[in-house]
Amino acid sequence: MPKWLNDAVFYEIYPQSFYDSNGDGIGDINGIIEKLDYVRSLGCNAIWLNPVYDSPFMDAGYDVRDYYKVAPRYGTNEDLVRLFEAAHRKEMKILLDLVPGHTSDTHPWFQVAKRAKQSELSNRYIFTKSVWDAPPEYRLMCGICERDGNYMVNYFSSQPALNYGFNVITHPEWQLPPEHPDCQQTVEAIKAIMRFWLDKGADGFRVDMADSLVKNDDEKYATAKIWRGVREMLDKEYPEAAMVSEWCHPDRAINDAGFHMDFYLDHYGNGYSRLFRFGEWGDLSVFNPNGLGDLKGFAEEYLPAYNRTKGNGFISFMTNNHDMPRVSAYHDKQTIKLINAFIFTMPGVPFLYYGDEIGMRYQRDLISKEGGFSRTGSRTPMQWCQGKNLGFSTSDKPYLPVDLSDDAPTVENQKDDPDSIYRIVTDMIAIRHKNSDLHGNGELEFVYKDGEIPFAYRRGSTVMFFNPLGKEAEISTDCVGDVVYKIGEAVISDGKVKMQPQSFLMIKEN
Ligand code: NOJ
Repeated sequence: MPKWLNDAVFYEIYPQSFYDSNGDGIGDINGIIEKLDYVRSLGCNAIWLNPVYDSPFMDAGYDVRDYYKVAPRYGTNEDLVRLFEAAHRKEMKILLDLVPGHTSDTHPWFQVAKRAKQSELSNRYIFTKSVWDAPPEYRLMCGICERDGNYMVNYFSSQPALNYGFNVITHPEWQLPPEHPDCQQTVEAIKAIMRFWLDKGADGFRVDMADSLVKNDDEKYATAKIWRGVREMLDKEYPEAAMVSEWCHPDRAINDAGFHMDFYLDHYGNGYSRLFRFGEWGDLSVFNPNGLGDLKGFAEEYLPAYNRTKGNGFISFMTNNHDMPRVSAYHDKQTIKLINAFIFTMPGVPFLYYGDEIGMRYQRDLISKEGGFSRTGSRTPMQWCQGKNLGFSTSDKPYLPVDLSDDAPTVENQKDDPDSIYRIVTDMIAIRHKNSDLHGNGELEFVYKDGEIPFAYRRGSTVMFFNPLGKEAEISTDCVGDVVYKIGEAVISDGKVKMQPQSFLMIKEN
């Protein structure tokens, strides 16, 4: 396990929207290099970069055309290497996004595989035996290739699934077992891509749809087996490299598959939404001031998963990512402050989505860009300062419009505001780094397990009290110590914490 993960705080950068250094309207790698000090100044010591590979951008780069080449709109491979080097000089790590489940339909492998002529790439993707063979239980694109067969899709239609085989074979005439040499070749192809970028200085990968490799694999054992093999390769050849999975099932991702980290998202009905997003617009989430949230449901789902994976890897909380509406779509500023206090004091390795530190808003009703659809509103340009495109780009045609409201938050107008989300985020990250109780593998004990709100949890000798409610509340406690941090008003005395509406208190016991 790479040691650096224990005190890592990640920043997710959606490259096309971060900073445009050459005025063409689109963010680029040199722009990220220019802003590294900013990211570092937040306290983030690691970055997850969404895909920067050559792509037709039907799914914002998750449709890869060439895994070995940086998309020209972002720069060159040399620029990416310079980013690795610049980051390392600042003691920061960079994880690239690995998309192993599918490629773009413009990828040369697919161009060859879809031809009628048999070749060594014919089994790189999943094709049925003939175009008349289209079992409805599979997502297939029918009758559009020269080859007599339909291909399986992993996500959008332009993203054919790579072939890692089928764990349960229902159609032997076209489904291969994962052990088939051609499926093994797909695994080797992905490992080769990983080695290529690790050799150039990448520090690891965020793995897209990590659970999607082997088909008909309900318990995901066969998929996990592939990742175990990848982890063995890393342990042997790149022991400092890390992988975080988009799996959202820590038992499988960490314990079975060997990922170092797994995102805590709302797939498989886990508690992420319960905490921050349940209900039409967050009204049934734990942090909503109305008190209707289901903390018990969260604790009963999260705590066992945490206990089972503790020591093997980290569950990663995130402020948001590029696939969900920003949390500002659901909650008021005070609630968001409390949410950040929670995310950055929980165990695991936290992720901050670009712009969340300044409370960037979800932009509703934007026309979809590059397959973003409803996600487009969370992918708008980073807001740096007053002026054209809020400092993102000098172009008249930015990738997406910036927030046009008069009070749009920017780094410039939030940085010195003591009442800002920025202040809470940067304070919490700084406190986290300084206090090893709060590091990834520090202890966790939920003091109020019965699911009552307000609630508290202890991490070593540091205790966090939260009152997300819109009314005053009290928590009895045997904790005695010094106040480290407060949001809103809360006082500890005589075995009680008296908490004003929507408040947070951190105590370090003496
Ligand atoms: C998950 C990614 O986060 C998302 O943006 C993408 O569209 C799909 N996987 C498909 O790769």
